[in-house]
Amino acid sequence: MTPLAPVAFLLLLLCLPEAAPAAAASGDSTPTPTPWPPQFHATLVMDYHGNMSLADLWYDWPGGRNLHVIRYQIADDAPYYDNEWNNGTSFFYTPARRACRSAAVGVGILRPDWLLEGSEYLGRRDAGGFDCHVWAKADFITYYEDVKTKRPVKWVFYTGRIAYVMSFEVGAVLEDAAWQAPEYCFNKDGEIAETANGHDDSFLTPRSVL
Ligand SMILES: *[C@@H]1O[C@H](CO)[C@@H](O)[C@H](O)[C@H]1NC(C)=O
Ligand SMILES: *[C@@H]1O[C@H](CO)[C@@H](O)[C@H](O)[C@H]1NC(C)=O
Repeated sequence: MTPLAPVAFLLLLLCLPEAAPAAAASGDSTPTPTPWPPQFHATLVMDYHGNMSLADLWYDWPGGRNLHVIRYQIADDAPYYDNEWNNGTSFFYTPARRACRSAAVGVGILRPDWLLEGSEYLGRRDAGGFDCHVWAKADFITYYEDVKTKRPVKWVFYTGRIAYVMSFEVGAVLEDAAWQAPEYCFNKDGEIAETANGHDDSFLTPRSVL
């Protein structure tokens, strides 16, 4: 052995841990969830312990807003709106009854890459015939993403609510007027008013921030 050999061995050891993650990153490492497009329109079939609804979800990150238009099964007063703003204010209203409730949620809407941080990859599973990558974010959601198209397929919330994504239209934007909370959400001074019979149904908010 030359006197240099132990040094070379030590250098090799020092280099190995550096080399390993780089190789993993370029190879078949754990899949990461696809960030949401900045704007989209999705239609959802939702099942909350047997309570069924259809929903339109309009996600608008540049606009700092997120709207669900929900139609509960055979509800005479449908639709019900869940209108969430990035400044932390949410409005829940039912135009048929002119009922509105607001909430200071204290957080903004989900960021497009909200699933990247703190989620755990659970592997591949079938969801209604779609081969999906599945991630769980512990106190919030189990998220199914189509392996082929990278579109979301199914969301299972910690509350037991299941949302089946029926369509996912990337880049669709709802006109500005449709985002305006109705006048009965405000009093005559333009302040946010509270009306009875609104209900809080902000299911896109993780439990950790509620
Ligand atoms: C389903 O839940 C919504 C929201 O809580 C409620 O307004 C509606 O009446 C429920 N539908 C049935 C059939 O219970
Ligand atoms: C948040 O934005 C909405 C829509 O512009 C507005 O009605 C509401 O008053 C704002 N809330 C706060 C706390 O600024």
